[in-house]
Amino acid sequence: MGVSMKEREKLTKDNIRELIKAAVEARRKSYSPYSRYQVGAALLTADGQTVTGCNIENAAYGPSNCAERTAFFKAVSEGVREFAAIAIVGSPEGEEVTQYAYPCGVCRQVMREFCEPSQFQIIVAKSEEDYRVMTLAELLPEGFGPENLRWQ
Ligand code: THU
Repeated sequence: MGVSMKEREKLTKDNIRELIKAAVEARRKSYSPYSRYQVGAALLTADGQTVTGCNIENAAYGPSNCAERTAFFKAVSEGVREFAAIAIVGSPEGEEVTQYAYPCGVCRQVMREFCEPSQFQIIVAKSEEDYRVMTLAELLPEGFGPENLRWQ
């Protein structure tokens, strides 16, 4: 994406539409033969890049990774640590997206590590026109974060 969130501060409808489109595309890559629940995420970095992720399951179940964390870990492993928003789409395999897929608690906590709760925007979408936008603070109130571990 060409739009810098630092310059613009606020998500536009076009930002949101592009992010949802990227999340829908990422969902097609979902590796979820066990749950057959497919999730895609598109993470908007502070400088306007989009990093996508899908859920990746495992025969041992425990090592499975959510789409949101895939996107965060891809970005952080490339040196990116500032984020503006994430769009998430999820629904059972074989369906188009039919439900709002809110991020699980573990993913909310991963977001808390890198994002300012009152600023970071979470978009859950059924389509490019049908979505909800909320902040991380709304989905993870009174969270525990890195600043708790600072002693001065
Ligand atoms: N899943 C996600 O990718 N994100 C969430 O926030 C909730 C759940 C995945 C994990 C698993 O592969 C499948 O959805 C069913 O739980």
